[in-house]
Amino acid sequence: MTGFEFAVGLLYLASASLFVVGLHQMRAPSTARTGNLISAGGMVIAVLTTVVYSLVAAGGDWIAWVALAAGSIVGAVFGVSQARTIRMTAIPQLVSVFNAVGGGAAAAVAFAAFVLPTTNARLELTVSIPVTLDVLIGSVTFSGSLIAAAKLQGIISGKPVTFRGAAVVNVIVALIAIASGVAAIVLPRNTALLVVMLVASLALGVLMVLPIGGADAPVVVSLLNAFTGLAVAMAGFAIDNQALIIAGALVGAAGTILTLQMAAAMNRSVLSIILGGFGTGDAEVGAGSDDDDLSQIRSLSSDDVAIQLAYARHVLIVPGYGLAAAQAQHEVAALAALLIAHGVDVKYAIHPVAGRMPGHMNVLLAESNVPYEQMLQLDDANAAFDNCDVALVIGANDVCNPDARTPGNVVSGMPILDADHAKAVVVIKRSMRPGYAGINNPLFTNPKTGMFFADAKKGLADITASVKEYVSA
Ligand code: TAP
Repeated sequence: MTGFEFAVGLLYLASASLFVVGLHQMRAPSTARTGNLISAGGMVIAVLTTVVYSLVAAGGDWIAWVALAAGSIVGAVFGVSQARTIRMTAIPQLVSVFNAVGGGAAAAVAFAAFVLPTTNARLELTVSIPVTLDVLIGSVTFSGSLIAAAKLQGIISGKPVTFRGAAVVNVIVALIAIASGVAAIVLPRNTALLVVMLVASLALGVLMVLPIGGADAPVVVSLLNAFTGLAVAMAGFAIDNQALIIAGALVGAAGTILTLQMAAAMNRSVLSIILGGFGTGDAEVGAGSDDDDLSQIRSLSSDDVAIQLAYARHVLIVPGYGLAAAQAQHEVAALAALLIAHGVDVKYAIHPVAGRMPGHMNVLLAESNVPYEQMLQLDDANAAFDNCDVALVIGANDVCNPDARTPGNVVSGMPILDADHAKAVVVIKRSMRPGYAGINNPLFTNPKTGMFFADAKKGLADITASVKEYVSA
């Protein structure tokens, strides 16, 4: 080993250490920002080290120099511009695109390691196994994450997208991917086999994510994140790069823990979600209750809502995706502060998958300095609904859909916030349109529910103005 290679190894070790320290800091909200900065520092060291190492290795090869320069510039410009301009509600889609890019890049690295004529015709198993696994996992992650991003962006419906005979097609495609992968490992180097596996894996990613919707979607997004880490770690083995192995292992492990926690919170098993996607093709996807009888809807004005809230002793606010979409976090905090000053006990009921990313509501409410003590997690919130005078549902839908308690629809079995157990329910949303899962919500036609049709930001501001008038009168 030369002195230069030793220095590169040390820098990779330093960056990996910073990733570990950064990740550790991210376990608490108070230290998470520092953790993010430390991890970013580690990434800067890793990227610069790789660029310098690759330039030295490239020697006078101008194509390698141009490729490195183009990759660095395109990556940096895309990353910085997205980070600066992204709306908070679009972060989940962006994370999915990053997953796709990570998985795709890892697959490309492995593919290159396989086809480049630098090693013997028969690759060592220590290389061919991680290379093949990397192409398989990376390709599934690439196409699956792009479909997930399209679903989150609303380009493709959040409902399960299925077709007749899908289960058979999926099994055949999976078998082709596995068989060509095994053949690519055991036979002498054969690029055609790897291409077959690549195409089958890309198709598999699409087929795996398209039928997933409703309560399964968050778990799948998290699973794809774990896959990205795994693919990156495999790429590290394929090209013998310690930084990739460590960074990939960290992402894979963190993603796996999050996936398991999310699956537990959603009352799902990860395997049944993946295999469930394979099975739903021929099954009737439940549409929830038939609550098309809109005559049962009770419409409220901002004054009606204000009076109900001002008279209440215990109010539980159920925030959902619509609160984030409307960027109404400051308005809801202002209304809560006003009610608290008026002697009302106000808490927030937080569902683990409310919104479009893990912890979405916690992050959103923290932006307007809502104290963590006011945020009740699912079990505590559900214990509090029985004693709650008004459940104020703001832009939430699936997370409080009572149809989750009955089998046969896309949210069946998902633990929900029992808003319908409150003495009265007020829902702020713009229309009777469904949420992400695409199904009706009988809570909206429940006799104890009043609907205040409004954009969350404007609606909350109007209610706050009415409460002010009411309490000062
Ligand atoms: P959703 O069920 O998606 O419902 C959001 C509701 O907000 C919609 O019905 C919509 O009705 C309303 N809305 C949208 N914009 C609004 C605005 N400007 N003002 C007022 N209301 C507005 O949200 P949820 O209850 O938070 O459930 C989350 C869903 O996303 C679950 O199905 C979950 O599985 C899925 N998901 C979650 C994640 C994570 S990790 N959190 C990831 C992927 C998918 P109108 O259009 O009528 O206003």
